Amino acid sequence: MRRTRAVEEVADAYHASLAPFWHPVLPSDALNGSPVGVQLLGRALVLARLEGEAVAFDDVCRHLGAALSIGQVVDDGCHLRCAYHGWSYDRTGRCVDIPARRGSNIPREARVRAYWTRERYGLVWVCVDEEPGYEIPALPEFEDAEMHQGPLRDYGTWRASSPRIVMAALDDTHFPWVHPGILGDPAHPEPPDHRVYREGEYLVSTYDMMQPANDTVSTNGGAKAMEKVTYTNYVTPASIRLVKESAAGKYVIWQVATPIAHDRSQIFSRQLRSFDRDPARDPEYERLQDTILGQDRPIVESQRPWLLPPLSSRMMLYVRPADLPLVAFQKWLEELHIPQEV
Ligand code: FES
Ligand SMILES: [Fe+2]
Repeated sequence: MRRTRAVEEVADAYHASLAPFWHPVLPSDALNGSPVGVQLLGRALVLARLEGEAVAFDDVCRHLGAALSIGQVVDDGCHLRCAYHGWSYDRTGRCVDIPARRGSNIPREARVRAYWTRERYGLVWVCVDEEPGYEIPALPEFEDAEMHQGPLRDYGTWRASSPRIVMAALDDTHFPWVHPGILGDPAHPEPPDHRVYREGEYLVSTYDMMQPANDTVSTNGGAKAMEKVTYTNYVTPASIRLVKESAAGKYVIWQVATPIAHDRSQIFSRQLRSFDRDPARDPEYERLQDTILGQDRPIVESQRPWLLPPLSSRMMLYVRPADLPLVAFQKWLEELHIPQEV
């Protein structure tokens, strides 16, 4: 489908607004001896591990524009070599070898742009702005010895924008409709009382609700039909950390929606729990989360416009107080100048 100029402009503005944030692009253990091409905020990047460190460059060789992601890591893991004529780049993006003119100086302009890169929580994070404006979205439970860490999960690419995906996890009033018997009960569609506030780089929404008993909230093997759960959700424009406290203990779902483009996002997730800590039990919990995300996906992918329309446009009719966290999230996105589609 042809992108109109208006859509292109909104997409570019969306990419620019999310540029100061860190976004995870790849599991750390997927970056070994070979470069990997990824997409982030409408750009093609190449990732490589050079001198042991993850680096990210524009995936375009400075010579004749071949993709560096089809090149090779050479010189004992120190350089990334282009497949076309063998130009090699060091971890700062500077070209260190032009085989067709060895013995002459390498032009100063022979470099590719290198981006901010870090590894945390088992993922490689990239920031494409001049300077990062924020921290990597925190997962404090990752370092907490009381918490059992489930595996890092890659839920692939969804046809949705990052804020739409985050909003779906922030929104609890869909639980009875989309996740009946797991997260909600259609006989009880009434919303909980939300408390929503800003805390540092996060928007926080907290509430108590009754939820169907299951492994994530119950200790009594489902003997009770419903259990009380306290949710505290920490949100950024492209990530959410849901902390569920219940009879079973503490259960954390951390989900990051990396903006590939304005209409595509890559989802990574991790779950952690303070109870039932045997790793052999992980598949049970992962299955439950797979079911929940499988139920969410067609709904979120169906939402239009891709980005959230401005609050003032009244293209979406929020109901209050039920949608309070969503209204607060959207107001915050507007404060951050994250563009909205009209
Ligand atoms: S295009 Fe990369 S070396 Fe020529
Ligand atoms: Fe959901």
